[in-house]
Amino acid sequence: MRQLTSVACSVTAGRHRGPRTMVGNTPVLWVSEPFGSGDRGFWAKLEGANPGGMKDRPALHMVECARARGELRPGAQIVESTSGTLGLALGLAGQVYGHPVTLVTDPGMEPIVQRMLTAYGVRVDVVTEPHPTGGWQQARKDRVAHLMAADPHAWNPDQYNNPDNADGYRSLALELLDQLGPIDVLVCSVGTGGHSAGIARVLHRVNPDLKLIGVDTIGSTIFGQPAAAKRLMRGLGSSIYPRNVDYPAFAEVHWVAPAEAVWACRALANTYYASGGWSVGAVALVAGWAARTHQPGTKIATVFPDGPLRYFDTVYNDDYCRQHDLLDAAPPVEPAVIDDPTEQVVQSWTRCTKVVDPALVKQ
Ligand SMILES: Cc1ncc(COP(=O)(O)O)c(C=O)c1O
Repeated sequence: MRQLTSVACSVTAGRHRGPRTMVGNTPVLWVSEPFGSGDRGFWAKLEGANPGGMKDRPALHMVECARARGELRPGAQIVESTSGTLGLALGLAGQVYGHPVTLVTDPGMEPIVQRMLTAYGVRVDVVTEPHPTGGWQQARKDRVAHLMAADPHAWNPDQYNNPDNADGYRSLALELLDQLGPIDVLVCSVGTGGHSAGIARVLHRVNPDLKLIGVDTIGSTIFGQPAAAKRLMRGLGSSIYPRNVDYPAFAEVHWVAPAEAVWACRALANTYYASGGWSVGAVALVAGWAARTHQPGTKIATVFPDGPLRYFDTVYNDDYCRQHDLLDAAPPVEPAVIDDPTEQVVQSWTRCTKVVDPALVKQ
């Protein structure tokens, strides 16, 4: 009888009347070799276990806050610029709260994401030309402004600058504390800056000595490097300066190159089954380095924002990788080091402990 009752309870615990409550309570996985060594490793929070991915949390939070404040009226359209993860999450939020969703993207969005967004009922609007100086991101922003002007009730979450984006990660941070206790080092990829800012803020209250390590892609402007004409890695990185990046919170930043992320993604898939895309590979590489270079016993956590399937035709496609020279190059054991982000244009894994807001430096 006791056995029957416990089975019945566990089934009830996993029963959902709608997808809203399926977000969160994601697992953490211990990762060591070949990233760490021996008992030195890191904990990866597997956000790909959410229905849409990591951004389910901030998308729902931004929509709920905007509705509560009356900025987003019942049934009004949501318009946003996204390379995918927030789009999938807004598709979820739109269904849960009954809002049509239009997403502005560029030709780099993977076909699998475009098709799934359409299946979720989202309108996908693809810009065809990059902005002459601001790249694809600026072109997408301009298109969003155009769509907003055409619909007086439309609401734009503005994930790059909306503080509710960062606040939406409170649940993730509380889960980490529950699963792991106080954390010493947090390694986060940076795109809008939302999850690094939101998680670190909560963890910092429990451990004021928390060290936050940012992970960006080469060719991204976020931490003061010049914009590259083309960036292969998506998700992390930016060609603008998002206001959600909490610059003072970072102890250091690492830039990672696409071949290094591919190696890490494939090594993860091959050893831990759990893997993902560009940002997952990049943070795994840096978190493994952190595990090897900090005192034994240091508790290191990172976030894997999504799973691998979306990247089947890039990171996991040999032809694509060969074409872009991304194979057969195991990354160095240590990153190169620069003293100032403006010192040189980095082309491979590099770290810098001087973290400055480039938008302030330029003023
Ligand atoms: C797959 C993926 N990884 C990492 C990030 C970076 O996260 P954040 O925007 O919270 O800095 C994003 C952002 O779009 C993403 O889509």
